[in-house]
Amino acid sequence: MRVLSGIKPTGTLHIGNYLGAARQFEVMQQKNYDGFYFIADYHTLNSYPDPVIFSDNTWSIVLDYLAFGLDPEKSTIFIQSQVPEVVELAFILSNYTPMGLLQRAHSYKDKMAKGKQVFVGLFYYPLLMAADILLYKSNVVPVGKDQKQHVEIARDIAEKFNLHFQKDVFTLPEPYISEDVSVVPGTDGRKMSKSYENTIDMFAPLKVLKKQVMGIITDSTPLEDPKDPDKCTVFNIYKLFASKPDVETMARKLCAGGYGYGHTKKDLIKVIQEFFTPMRQKREELSKDMNYVKKVIREGGDRARSIAVETIKEVKKTTGLTRTI
Ligand code: TRP
Repeated sequence: MRVLSGIKPTGTLHIGNYLGAARQFEVMQQKNYDGFYFIADYHTLNSYPDPVIFSDNTWSIVLDYLAFGLDPEKSTIFIQSQVPEVVELAFILSNYTPMGLLQRAHSYKDKMAKGKQVFVGLFYYPLLMAADILLYKSNVVPVGKDQKQHVEIARDIAEKFNLHFQKDVFTLPEPYISEDVSVVPGTDGRKMSKSYENTIDMFAPLKVLKKQVMGIITDSTPLEDPKDPDKCTVFNIYKLFASKPDVETMARKLCAGGYGYGHTKKDLIKVIQEFFTPMRQKREELSKDMNYVKKVIREGGDRARSIAVETIKEVKKTTGLTRTI
């Protein structure tokens, strides 16, 4: 079974990204799926990143992937633009993709609804993502809830192409959505998201981590009063990382009163630090050995490309495009 997923290099990762995506990758790796994990740099162009920051962010996510425990011996780790065949496939697939399918995509619809100017790249986004998925004949695509529609679009396009040629060229992918993805609250209690500016960044220096956690919005219940753990954002984040007994202890203390939100925040900082320290250390070591990191990416890119080339050959043969390779 092949599993594939990508993350856009739009900045440092936060704990919502970790729980929502990266942790799933590692679980899949342990289950011996044939994993393809890439940095979706082509997809990032539609947000007009500063070129220098963009390139730094790309390498930063490579380091994050390796620090999380993705193992280049077991998984194929690469950067999307190392395999330009994905763009070729996207173009070919565009001919089997009804406009209506892309017009129903949330990101396009939302922008249109706001009356904003929409560029072709944004409209094309789900098609490029379909090409990512279909190029490697992926069976399973672990994504956050917001990306489910894109995987369904990929599946639709694959079906249309296969039907047109009466041939099973493409594997029909299934989205895989982890249940706990939706429950990572940000510092304001809404879903943790870069666009809400409510993130807690996983590898942030302690000073930043403290500031982010201390900024979690709580109500004004006095310290001595009992508090409802379920309504406490700090507790709701704490329970995602702490051990079961520690979670029970915090819940008990909150219900008993005499334990304030400031205390819960200190405990949260501690548990986040403990949780991510081994990964942070690994990341720091790797960042000092960029030659190794670049070699991993070169090899991952070569492996991904060798598979991509096979798919393109098959697609060319199917459609009648002239093959020169
Ligand atoms: N669109 C995804 C996101 O914004 C990133 C992505 C690009 C992706 N291509 C993919 C995810 C293919 C899964 C499979 O999060």
